[in-house]
Amino acid sequence: MSRDAGTASEALNTHLTAVKEQSFIKLLCDEGRFERARQLQFSFQSLHVDFSKQRLTSETVALLTQWAGECGLEEKRAALFGGEPVNASENKPALHMAARWPAEVAAPTGMETAAAFCQQQHTKLAGLAKKLHKGEWRGVTGEAITDVVHIGVGGSDLGPKLVSEVLGDTLGKRFVRAHYVSTMDGSQLLPLMQSLNPATTLIVLASKSFSTADTQFNVRTALAWLRDALGVDTDTLCRHQLLGVSAKTEKMSAFGIPEDHQLVFPESIGGRFSVWSAIGVTIALELGVEVFDQLLAGAHAVDKHFMQTPLAQNIPFLLGAVGVWNTQFLDIPSHLVLPYDGRLKSLPPYLQQLEMESNGKSTKVDGQPVTHVTCPIVWGDVGPNAQHAFYQLVHQGSHTVSADFIAVARRNRHHAPQVAQAMADQENLTLANCLAQSQLFALGDAAITDRLRDSTSLGYRGNQPNTVILLETLDAWHLGALLAMYEHKVFVQSVLWGINPFDQPGVELGKKLATSLYDSLSDPWPGADESEHEIVNDAGTRQLLKQLRQWRGEDTQDQEL
Ligand code: F6P
Repeated sequence: MSRDAGTASEALNTHLTAVKEQSFIKLLCDEGRFERARQLQFSFQSLHVDFSKQRLTSETVALLTQWAGECGLEEKRAALFGGEPVNASENKPALHMAARWPAEVAAPTGMETAAAFCQQQHTKLAGLAKKLHKGEWRGVTGEAITDVVHIGVGGSDLGPKLVSEVLGDTLGKRFVRAHYVSTMDGSQLLPLMQSLNPATTLIVLASKSFSTADTQFNVRTALAWLRDALGVDTDTLCRHQLLGVSAKTEKMSAFGIPEDHQLVFPESIGGRFSVWSAIGVTIALELGVEVFDQLLAGAHAVDKHFMQTPLAQNIPFLLGAVGVWNTQFLDIPSHLVLPYDGRLKSLPPYLQQLEMESNGKSTKVDGQPVTHVTCPIVWGDVGPNAQHAFYQLVHQGSHTVSADFIAVARRNRHHAPQVAQAMADQENLTLANCLAQSQLFALGDAAITDRLRDSTSLGYRGNQPNTVILLETLDAWHLGALLAMYEHKVFVQSVLWGINPFDQPGVELGKKLATSLYDSLSDPWPGADESEHEIVNDAGTRQLLKQLRQWRGEDTQDQEL
């Protein structure tokens, strides 16, 4: 495999050979293991990250740090926070940190305008949320809003949905019920239209581009439902029961959303980095502005840590560098995200978009091809459930994976005494499983103690490097910190790989092809025009179209393949 030239990267290659020759199990079990664990664990406030079960040594970390220096990580980090056009292909900055920059702290030079704009929109968002919480936001019939249907997809859905799930459960208190709709087929919308009261439902249309078909079609259906049920026109609905969130004010206005129901975020905030911006409005509507602010505060604390901490102790840097070591150097093609907390069930899909849409690229910023693998395949599930699904493959299958185990020390729930004890037992069981699986991933058979040896069949492959991330508790602050940590991890990796993490050109063509096929499915068959034939030029797809039409009772007899 070819590696980039450079002093530290050459040294890393030499070092790689030494690491590969050294038994991973021995590395984890020999007498130096206590010192190793001490050197490879890092804390930031009440987050604790353990890299000691990674297949590396302190020397690896030192070489990765040196390599990052050669790649200009610190200069590029300054450019990121300074609002320089780090998104080179779109000639835009990437200022998601501006959306969580506190008003009372001076923003870095280059970020001030975006931070001020986001703070102004945040004030507007808070005003709307408070109006709703006081029961003063009324639908067209004059009744107060009780339910919010947040319609968006990708970054306009995954972040707010994850936060809603985690914190709604943690806090046990909601101002209104929030429902998330993303699938373009209307399957999530249908049960809501059957169960919600149309007079008290607010639609949040969340779309940075305001042109994503998935979202536009869902909104069209939702508005048709409200129009039909309430007997009013779209303009009236837009004034009372629709809130728009986008970077495109002109499109929101053209749609009929009045200015006071528009929330805007800057073009410089990418969709998958946008939960902190007005896209997070549903979090504030459902759980309160204070909770949303705590989320932003946790993320901002990590921004400061990332900006100010030397790389050798910088947790986002280490997460990113260790990930690059696993993927590019140790050739591990997939990475598991395993939260040992059911509230984090949507963290794997959130990180799938964040990591794979950002770094799933093989062309460098300078246009040259990358000569090694980049972003791994990110997958995962709630750890305890995954144990009963795909851990068999991890432990005894033929694939090597890396993994992040994420666990929470304290749940802070308030239960009746008998339930409290039973819940505490469940939490201990969960933590025990997390630590046990982390050991077993790394050590395989060597994790089996003498006491268990006689009663346990062997054959656990081990050698699956993993990181354990411990959070003291899972409140809004810690969740914000965790997500920001991963955002900066993605940035670090993009710098080490020389790619632009802030565009997503690979998702565009599919949308265009689908538009053409949509036209062909919606038009009467004989009317399908030549441009469709040009695009749908593979026989298999044409046969599938024909089969679909037959099952829908459309006449396809004259159609040749
Ligand atoms: O899938 C492509 C993508 O553009 C994502 O980057 C984005 O988060 C999602 O679609 C939704 O886009 P929008 O917010 O513009 O509707």
